[in-house]
Amino acid sequence: MDEYDLLVVGSANADLVVGVERRPGPGETVLGSDLAVHPGGKGANQAVAAARLGARTALLARVGDDAHGRLLLDSQRTAGVDTSGVLVGGAPTGVALITVDPSGDNSIVVSPGANAHLTPDDVRDARELLAAARVVSTQLEIPLETVAEVVRNLAPGARFALNPSPPAPLPPDVLAACDPLVVNEHEARVVLGAEGGGASGDRPEASDAPEGQDAPEDWARGLLALGPRSVVITLGARGALVAEAPSDAGGDVVTRRVESLPVAAVDTTGAGDAFTAALAWRLGSGEDLASAAAYAARVGAAAVTRKGAQVSFPTADEVAAL
Ligand code: RIB
Repeated sequence: MDEYDLLVVGSANADLVVGVERRPGPGETVLGSDLAVHPGGKGANQAVAAARLGARTALLARVGDDAHGRLLLDSQRTAGVDTSGVLVGGAPTGVALITVDPSGDNSIVVSPGANAHLTPDDVRDARELLAAARVVSTQLEIPLETVAEVVRNLAPGARFALNPSPPAPLPPDVLAACDPLVVNEHEARVVLGAEGGGASGDRPEASDAPEGQDAPEDWARGLLALGPRSVVITLGARGALVAEAPSDAGGDVVTRRVESLPVAAVDTTGAGDAFTAALAWRLGSGEDLASAAAYAARVGAAAVTRKGAQVSFPTADEVAAL
């Protein structure tokens, strides 16, 4: 029997956050608010988001033997995440330097620290966690070779979700395992090869389209052609688009739009992580892709209404009350 609804393999960062009137351009200095330190990191965020919704969740990650590492472990345990897979030491805890403007949009620079030391060996050593997970979810703030090892060690029947953030070109075996591949528009462009890798924000510009493919439906078809069994493209305040590979060769790809809830955004940090966690959990419980994405969109909408990443994630009751 599955012991975990969701195993997250990924990063854990201390988020050092400053509010600014305007995010600085190249060569520019701006003054901001007092510094806030929050638990974050795309992997740790997903784990907390899922656990807070009620999913039986475990995290495989690496933090430093330092105050930031303890902050992250506390946050996981308070949310009810099984932290037996969180390794401690080897490098300082990862840190994310974040500026947030009045519209809630952010800019993020990550110093990976211990995240870069989560190795394929660590994945092999965690075979018991992997064997007990119904869904395994990863991102790209840990080495890509570690993500590839996760794919090679999935239990039979386990579902694999990947949010390639920050985005990078992906090897065919990783792409083929994705069910779903979860991307925003910028990440879609990088995976499609229309742009080099780089940081990905939670709210990309709607006009950022690969040349010759300017509708998310086109992107979804292009991404599915690379191998994933399903694709979810998050579109910020415009909701999301879901697409599944046809079951028969030569069949048509079916795409569906999923709406978001109109909310006043305070801070978008971590909203994409909460979306992916909710999506992965609901898929594991047997929901279809469009319904799971619709629920995830509500979770993401709730997360942008409060400051911070993990501290902003809703409970299932709060989602129901939206
Ligand atoms: O997705 C949001 C996260 O990105 C932040 O919590 C920060 O740690 C960076 O990893």
